[in-house]
Amino acid sequence: MKILTIIGARPQIIKAAALSRAIKKHFIASIQEVIVHTGQHYDTNMSQVFFDEMGIPEPNYNLEVGSASHGLQTAQMISGIEEILEIEKPDYIILYGDTNSTLAGAIAASKIHISIVHIEAGLRSFNKRMPEEVNRILCDHVSTLLFTPTKTGYQNLLNEGFKENEGPFTVDKPGIFHCGDVMYDNSLFFADMAEEKTSILSELNLTNKHFILATIHRDHNTDNPLRLQDIFEALLEIALEKKIKVVLPLHPRTKKKMETLPSELKERVNANTNIQIIQPVSFLEMIALEKNAQLIITDSGGVQKEAYYFHKPCIILRPETEWVEIIEAGTGILVDAEKKKIKEAVNLLLYQTFEFPSIYGDGHAAEFICQKLLDNQKKNQKSIKKKSDVFAV
Ligand code: UD1
Ligand code: UDP
Repeated sequence: MKILTIIGARPQIIKAAALSRAIKKHFIASIQEVIVHTGQHYDTNMSQVFFDEMGIPEPNYNLEVGSASHGLQTAQMISGIEEILEIEKPDYIILYGDTNSTLAGAIAASKIHISIVHIEAGLRSFNKRMPEEVNRILCDHVSTLLFTPTKTGYQNLLNEGFKENEGPFTVDKPGIFHCGDVMYDNSLFFADMAEEKTSILSELNLTNKHFILATIHRDHNTDNPLRLQDIFEALLEIALEKKIKVVLPLHPRTKKKMETLPSELKERVNANTNIQIIQPVSFLEMIALEKNAQLIITDSGGVQKEAYYFHKPCIILRPETEWVEIIEAGTGILVDAEKKKIKEAVNLLLYQTFEFPSIYGDGHAAEFICQKLLDNQKKNQKSIKKKSDVFAV
């Protein structure tokens, strides 16, 4: 069986590592993987670093699309992916998450009848102003096999009319599976290596673990100067009042948008030695930071979950989240970008201990997915044979 994997943005490269690892370990004789990098993320520390560190095979193709408006970026990807699909003729295209690279793969493949596998299907924020919400809904509805990381994701698909079917699955009779989270597979696999193989904690003087880890990159936060301003004001006040370091590996989008902050605020951020703004870090470095932080403040989907995997309370800089289990468990609080709410949440969560019931699977989601693909391939071949036998008669 030949699969063609589309990656493009940082979290997709990370997610793809789990499937590539499962193929190498358990399915090398039965699954051939071709990897296409759209080039959506391209800085070394947003892309290459993950291939080097996580043992992901180098991409067979790189479309080098780079940054552009949604329409232009997605259109260039569609055109490039279509060309490659025509050459490679895979049995399945594998799409991760909810980025423009996901949507481009979904449009290109569905129009030329290549079966789509959507990993991280079914998640909904119920906010269609998020580009990601549009991408994930559109992708789900042209997919043949949909793998949800959470029970809520599975239920969302049922609510949208997906049915629990027996295979063989096709685009008109798709199969839905709750399988756990491939990101959890990765976090378990790499957790022990994080401190062994990186020195980020000592480099940043964080070995006393007295720090908060923060990440910000959602367009809703970065592209609205008032929201970005409120977030930075909150971080400054928390660092000052709680006498704690705030470590912020800065996404390139946020780095650019920080230029829109009032210069007086930028000066205060730069002058505060407890605010440590650093370049984006590698996955192992990120895990080392997450495991040792007292608290995580983020608008990232992946970082919210990793906070949960590593039993850290999390403040979510969004009005809503598709990872609702974290809120239900009481280990995460939604604060939008309001300074007052952010500070109140810090008061509630910092230095507190919580229960973190297991909700993201057993760390073997990638193996489960590979097996389902093979099973469906077999069932489809049988059903084609049955039909051709009927015609022969
Ligand atoms: C994208 C995804 C988002 C995901 C995030 C993960 C979409 C619509 N958004 O958002 O869902 O959570 O990736 O990080 O697909 N840039 C660089 N170097 C890079 C990459 C980006 O400088 O290597 C800068 C460019 O100025 C670019 C901006 O970041 O315009 C935004 O990049 P883009 O990929 O469009 O969106 P993200 O905000 O990264
Ligand atoms: N990450 C990383 N280095 C960083 C910031 C994040 O390796 O400096 C990892 C993080 O551990 C998680 C993933 O990137 O696995 C999340 O990606 P991001 O926040 O960019 O996107 P999202 O998950 O919101 O789509």
